Amino acid sequence: MNTFTIKVPATSANLGPGFDSVGLALDLYVTLECEPAKEWNFVLSQQDAPFIPNDKNNLIYKSAVFTAAKFGKDELPPHQIRMTNDVPIARGLGSSSTAVVGGIELANQLFSLNLTKSQKLQIACEIEGHPDNVAPAIYGGITVSSYDGSNLESVRFSKGLENVVFAAVIPDYHVETEKARAILPDEVPYKEAVYASGMANVLVAALAEQDWALVGRMMKQDKWHQPYRGELIPDFPKVSNVLNTHGALGYYISGAGPTMIGMFNADKDFKNLFSDLADYQIDLLQADTNGVTAVNPAPMNQ
Ligand code: HSE
Repeated sequence: MNTFTIKVPATSANLGPGFDSVGLALDLYVTLECEPAKEWNFVLSQQDAPFIPNDKNNLIYKSAVFTAAKFGKDELPPHQIRMTNDVPIARGLGSSSTAVVGGIELANQLFSLNLTKSQKLQIACEIEGHPDNVAPAIYGGITVSSYDGSNLESVRFSKGLENVVFAAVIPDYHVETEKARAILPDEVPYKEAVYASGMANVLVAALAEQDWALVGRMMKQDKWHQPYRGELIPDFPKVSNVLNTHGALGYYISGAGPTMIGMFNADKDFKNLFSDLADYQIDLLQADTNGVTAVNPAPMNQ
């Protein structure tokens, strides 16, 4: 087996009202350089080492084992994985999905499984439980998906994404997804659910029409999760206000937070935004339209 490199994009889930369904791939990556070794190990940066296991407890390894087992392979040939991680951990930019999707691709490469994107997504949903981050990490672009534990559907949008830019405003603290999900209500009154799903429907229709102004307006209309997550992300009102002043088409909490994303027209000049949000890391990102890729050995069926 040769050396090979896997690249997985960061993702941003929900886009406002598309809770657990809509997701966007961004041009920020986790890169895994894989080469045969005597035993499994992950070479991590100093910054990642406190948060990511460097042995078989690594989620990439576990996801690869899960995938391989589905095809009757129970021993992964040992490799060293050198990980370059530009996706901040536990900040709402899909870091755990990059590990799940990276692990599925790892098994795909190690055993030449020739998995289609659809097969990869099915496996990723079994591991992750919801499709909003893993689908764009696999397909690229924006995906709209539904998964009820067995039935999976996913539709991808990629046209016109070059016309918008996403300013990721990243606070200096972590939010654990588990905690951000635990504060959501168990039930929503019927009328409220109808209203909230109407918002999500219009978001998706606007994506289909590439009507970015309407996409932006709907991003601000979430009733499913953002109203409940304020206590974990107290910066959201202030940051929204600044993004609004700077002409953002829309803004939302990315995934379970704490990163907040403002969507702008691609020709926006961001100079003053950086000084107005000087307390935050700001990454200016565009959509990734490829999803996970593997280079060398030979290309797989996609
Ligand atoms: N849709 C998920 C959430 C994304 O908002 O909780 C994080 O896994």
